[in-house]
Amino acid sequence: MNENPIGVIDSGIGGLTILAEIIKKLPDESFIYLADSKNCPYGPKTSVEIYNLSKRLIEFLIKEKVKLIVIACNTITVSCIEKLRKDFPQIPIIGTVPVVKTASKNTKNGRIGILSTKQTAESLYQKNLIKKFGKGLKILNLGTDRLVSLIENGEDKIEIRKILEKELKPFIDFKIDVLALGCSHFPFLKKEIQEILGNKVLILDSSGAIARQTKRILISENLLSEYNKSVKSFYTTGDLYRFERIARIYLNAGKSIFEKIKL
Ligand code: DGL
Repeated sequence: MNENPIGVIDSGIGGLTILAEIIKKLPDESFIYLADSKNCPYGPKTSVEIYNLSKRLIEFLIKEKVKLIVIACNTITVSCIEKLRKDFPQIPIIGTVPVVKTASKNTKNGRIGILSTKQTAESLYQKNLIKKFGKGLKILNLGTDRLVSLIENGEDKIEIRKILEKELKPFIDFKIDVLALGCSHFPFLKKEIQEILGNKVLILDSSGAIARQTKRILISENLLSEYNKSVKSFYTTGDLYRFERIARIYLNAGKSIFEKIKL
């Protein structure tokens, strides 16, 4: 069991930003990354749709004998992680770790921005976190469903930048000094976001925290790999060529195996 891979899922390429951090922390582990690119974006979908799609991804990974699943998607985490854990009790499932707490620790002027998909921004999950950690702080919690498809389709950065400028304007007006990225696709735009917001704004994402959490759970469940034989496989339900190109650039994943699957 210890040599079985870790499964990582997302609606698309976004979760690669999280996978990269987990690989750094756990270099001896094997991984299966599964992107539901055909159905991306999940943001505008209903919770029932998101649950049904995620369930199929998890069933696929269980057939592939993964030992643990990381949901590298905030939208899935906030809409149905509890139900997924209940329906698949045989396997540990880790969700995204919201950065609200870290953001509240790092702000100097008490003004925080959170940018995620609309589904995440409007979720009770996120609102409860803001209530819990945001006492005494001013928080602007905004959702956008315009960016994920653009990132996923490899849209021209100049076009993305124009849209980003509009989406980020409210944060500039609100004078935030920390921006928490609540969607795993957004770290792909970190450089552009930093340029628009300026160097004084700290941009946080949750990949480091998820990687630490994955290691903690593997240790506590006695599931750490004992041999240095890491194998990485990448599956997508969508356009293989596009996915592979982006995954290779992002992960420098020369020796990995890419495959298109039908779910
Ligand atoms: N990357 C995902 C997230 O973290 C989902 C984005 C989407 O498919 O809309 O929320």
